Amino acid sequence: MRTLTLALVLVGFAFGCVSSEDVYVFQNIVECEYSKEDLSDMVYIIKLVFNQKLMCSYDSRLGKYVGYDEYGIKNAAHYNSQGWKMKQRKDELETLCRANARFYVNSTTRKMPPIVTVRPTEKAHYGQLTTLVCHAYAFYPQAINMTWLLDGSEVTGDVISTEFMDNGDWSYQTHSHLDLVLHRGVSVSCRVEHSGLEKPLVVQWDSTSLDSRTAKLAVGCSFFLIGLIVAFSAAYIYYKRKHRGFSSLPLN
Ligand SMILES: *[C@@H]1O[C@H](CO)[C@@H](O)[C@H](O)[C@H]1NC(C)=O
Ligand SMILES: *[C@@H]1O[C@H](CO)[C@@H](O)[C@H](O)[C@H]1NC(C)=O
Repeated sequence: MRTLTLALVLVGFAFGCVSSEDVYVFQNIVECEYSKEDLSDMVYIIKLVFNQKLMCSYDSRLGKYVGYDEYGIKNAAHYNSQGWKMKQRKDELETLCRANARFYVNSTTRKMPPIVTVRPTEKAHYGQLTTLVCHAYAFYPQAINMTWLLDGSEVTGDVISTEFMDNGDWSYQTHSHLDLVLHRGVSVSCRVEHSGLEKPLVVQWDSTSLDSRTAKLAVGCSFFLIGLIVAFSAAYIYYKRKHRGFSSLPLN
């Protein structure tokens, strides 16, 4: 009994070795792609893939199969000649893609709220022209509104430029640039509206580092001035004493 088990394990191991060297994977990938809510731009695609190589595909826009290598071309011609198969594929745009999409559209709507930050492009200074950028990352769907607010009121006009990027992984990012002269005490914020957010997100530009830098400079200057005053006073007193010392000599 024991020997048999061992033998079986060994045989299994041997098969495992053989099959791990040569693995064949055939994939039949079905895709329904659309962007419009009313499903009017629905596209039905079937991909026949062997060992990661696309051999043959059906595309509802072409209404037929197309082959990509010798065997794939042969297969495509065979499928295209089968009237019942072509009718079935045509119907599946409705019965498979649109029917499921209608069923899923309300339950699977993916929403990812944006991650928002506001930063200057380089070290900011009060009283100087600065570019602030409002970054919104990793959101889905694409629709987003970005507004700049100065002390709570909307900024408009050509001071703003935006760039938009499709990350290609079902997420987007956008960056809005605002050129302005910064003034102490004027709050600058970026308001973002997105369907993934319960209410508009307002992110204020954090000026504390700039304020503390200015404060440090002010403290530094004060210490320098105090030092200067102390030094001058000391020198003056020293000079006075010396002077009096000299001038008082003949009197004694
Ligand atoms: C999906 O939601 C929309 C809008 O809320 C609604 O009009 C439609 O009937 C819903 N569809 C289904 C299949 O529930
Ligand atoms: C963006 O603003 C427009 C106009 O106010 C509005 O209709 C739309 O719903 C907003 N979009 C988002 C994603 O909030």
